[in-house]
Amino acid sequence: MSYSYQIKTQAEYDAAWKKSTENPGQFWAEIAAQFYWRKKWDIALDWNFAEPHVRWFLGGKLNITENCLDRHLADKANQPAIIWEPNNPEEAHRVLTYKQLHDKVCQFAHVLRNNGVKKGDRVCIYMGMIPELAVAVLACARVGAIHSVIFGGFSAQSIADRLIDAQAEFIITCDGAYRGAKDIPLKGVIDDALIGCRFVKKVIVFTRTRTPVSMIKGRDVWWEDEIRKVETQGLHEFEAEEMNSEDPLFILYTSGSTGKPKGVVHACAGYMIYTNYTFVNVFQYKPGDVHFCTADVGWITGHSYIVYGPLSAGATSLMFEGVPTWPDAGRFWEIVEKYKVNVLYTAPTAIRSLMGFGTGPIEGRDLSSLRVLGTVGEPINEEAWQWYFKHIGKEKCPIVDTWWQTETGGILISNLAGVTPAKAAFATLPLPGVDPVLVDENGKIIEGNNVSGNLCIRQPWPSIIRTTWGDHERCRVNYFATYPNLYFTGDGALRDENGMYRITGRVDDVLNVSGHRIGTAEVENALNMHAGVVESAVVGYPHDIKGQGIYAYIVYTGEHETEENLTRQDILQTVTRVIGAIAKPDKIQFVSGLPKTRSGKIMRRILRKIAEGELENIGDTSTLLDPAVVEEIKNGKL
Ligand code: PRX
Repeated sequence: MSYSYQIKTQAEYDAAWKKSTENPGQFWAEIAAQFYWRKKWDIALDWNFAEPHVRWFLGGKLNITENCLDRHLADKANQPAIIWEPNNPEEAHRVLTYKQLHDKVCQFAHVLRNNGVKKGDRVCIYMGMIPELAVAVLACARVGAIHSVIFGGFSAQSIADRLIDAQAEFIITCDGAYRGAKDIPLKGVIDDALIGCRFVKKVIVFTRTRTPVSMIKGRDVWWEDEIRKVETQGLHEFEAEEMNSEDPLFILYTSGSTGKPKGVVHACAGYMIYTNYTFVNVFQYKPGDVHFCTADVGWITGHSYIVYGPLSAGATSLMFEGVPTWPDAGRFWEIVEKYKVNVLYTAPTAIRSLMGFGTGPIEGRDLSSLRVLGTVGEPINEEAWQWYFKHIGKEKCPIVDTWWQTETGGILISNLAGVTPAKAAFATLPLPGVDPVLVDENGKIIEGNNVSGNLCIRQPWPSIIRTTWGDHERCRVNYFATYPNLYFTGDGALRDENGMYRITGRVDDVLNVSGHRIGTAEVENALNMHAGVVESAVVGYPHDIKGQGIYAYIVYTGEHETEENLTRQDILQTVTRVIGAIAKPDKIQFVSGLPKTRSGKIMRRILRKIAEGELENIGDTSTLLDPAVVEEIKNGKL
């Protein structure tokens, strides 16, 4: 399948961008017409950002899995849809062709139906990176259930919070997962989460690690047993549920500047069209491409560029269970060579960590199949960009630096590989359909080039967030109320002399640690749960590999003076329990008080400066309740 909407030249990009911003409805309708619809839409776009209210392809009916699977069966039945590389290189890899993936999704859709899952039900998926994770996601979409995938690193408490928020009555999990040298007892974590979630009706468990698990009668069933029942019943094809364009496809929880994660909701049609369009254009998809996105399906990058984008385009998506540095730092390059990967899409944190091992692990590896390199998740520093370009791409592969968010569903700002120019450390230009603006603190739009400000988007694109689950007001307040009639991204950016964008990082209290979003308020809530912690403040600081590290200032009562490191371990354990290991602070400094204004507000600006090591340049402290505490904190900096 080739796509008429694949942009091939700068002039085509310019024309597409112009057309898309002048008449977005018409622009996207022409693209949407190339998908498989049960019924065509009546109205392409209806929107206002005040409520917010965004509806794409109203009146249309479709099922995304018919676009990702069924429509490829005529010409791609035997082409690999998913290639799976296990954590342990000694274990056999697996390949699922489009036909096999289709059949597995249909079978598992029957399993879901047999277990009572209906259209609109929320299904939580907590699995490792195995093909069955993609099967579970697609089977939910096939029956019209709303999936909520939770990354395997989140704790029982985090899972429970998400289950309660979404009122998810069904769970799909594994006995355990392999990640590098670790075995993660996924089902055990789910059992802990379910202690307070009595509304959960069914837990379907896939066998991956053979870790002993406790199966609760009437609630827990084995994936394999359920599949056997479907086989005995002689059930094969599963007629896909007919969905309205705007029916929710999934919920994905992400951190904001408040303590509670938000359930970002994406809708079926717009999400499908935009992830496909951006996949085809940014990576310049060619038929037969092997696309290796190294993200976890537990994050938006995995949803959009391992599952839905590549499969809707008929590409071959490579799924890797492990981590880049286990059993050694040559893992990615071994995989690229083994499967002749054409597109490698990874995070700056992975590049920086691999850079640390030097070029030894690359030597002797044939990386000549690579055509395009991509990065996502955080700003990439120039040094990492150059290393990636030189040592991995051998100066022949364009790098696409793709800026986007969980809320945007797909890539919003990026060069198109080999078509529009790249610039180190710049995401560069907006995709067609995306109209970015920079605003100052008062919301005034900053015109011209060589300027910086807060990044907002002026018009809806098809995969824009529709709501936050169960709380539309929260969606409005978070994204659409800071600046009237604009979607506010929470990022700062600068625009260079050629109109290219460089994303400079979050301007709110959200950290980006190894490309993962973590709210400082969330970490503080977790720290404050520890019995000895009176109060805490969390800020980010530059970290060579993770991009940002987490620095926690803690007011502690108790006997930490003699056992300071043990106390630190206890506190870290608390964060691991409450959120998960990904939110553990890198540094904990015990302080006698926090710098506060007379009205009791913590002056984070000062704490950030100290964590960044800028001890000389703290700024005005005269409005503080107790300026002396600043000196103490400076002296105790880690
Ligand atoms: O700060 C931006 C950063 O990651 C945030 C979005 O995080 P999340 O929703 O978890 O999605 C990550 C994967 C899309 C953004 O607000 N970010 C993402 N991509 C880039 C980036 N910062 C700079 N350059 C990027 N290419």
